[in-house]
Amino acid sequence: MTAVSGIAALRSRQAAGEKIVCLTAYDAGFARVVDAAGVDLILVGDSLGMVVQGADDTLDVTMEDMVYHTRLVRRGVQRALLAADLPYHSYDDAAQALINAGRLVEAGAEMVKLEGGGAVTDSIRELAANGIAVCGHLGLQPQSITQYGGYKVQGRDSTAAERIYHDAQAVEAAGADLLVLECVPRALARRITADLEIPVIGIGAGRDCDGQILVLHDILGVSSYIPRMANDFLQQGGSVRGAVAAYVDAVRNGTFPDAAHSFD
Ligand code: KIV
Repeated sequence: MTAVSGIAALRSRQAAGEKIVCLTAYDAGFARVVDAAGVDLILVGDSLGMVVQGADDTLDVTMEDMVYHTRLVRRGVQRALLAADLPYHSYDDAAQALINAGRLVEAGAEMVKLEGGGAVTDSIRELAANGIAVCGHLGLQPQSITQYGGYKVQGRDSTAAERIYHDAQAVEAAGADLLVLECVPRALARRITADLEIPVIGIGAGRDCDGQILVLHDILGVSSYIPRMANDFLQQGGSVRGAVAAYVDAVRNGTFPDAAHSFD
């Protein structure tokens, strides 16, 4: 790849048909390992509520938590693009989104991620207009877990699939630079990826997305529950560095995710 960085580097991988590799991190030590392995984007995910804080969901994660962990991760990242999640109820309107995204940028994030479709397009527009790079998040939105009644695949019937498809178009039109698609059938992810210009990063969305993301604790086999869309790469990698390297290789060479880690 050429010596471009940031979002341009992701776009250049997309244009070259190379998979974009993304992974979460929550502290400087692990961020260093992930960065050195050649991951393109490191996300300080609000999944930290579950894998670091031990909660059942992400709903109690605060802005203070996100600022703190973003600062830690920033110290470990030299090369990858650093993104951070806006937590639950930190972007209820565009003005609040801008203030809180600004706090994450001050802490070192180069991109912020927020969940939702039509309901958050005003916030995306406001962030983009103020020069803040944005990643959308559709499909299974963990911050809406109480509405789903559990971590379930989204977009299986045609009405739900169309809603996600149109939300993806709306998120891109509002100015997002990237989209995460979580737990949707492979065919829906393939269609969205083909029709959007921005890179689409899948998690439980099949192998046809422009890139993949997983939760670090899942690939290291230390989460209390490893979801079907993830894989314990420590088994094959033999060490933390080996596991991250095995994940990077598997995404780049298209062997992950396979059918066993995707949904129809
Ligand atoms: O919070 C998180 O870690 C995420 C990724 C799994 C996409 O949103």
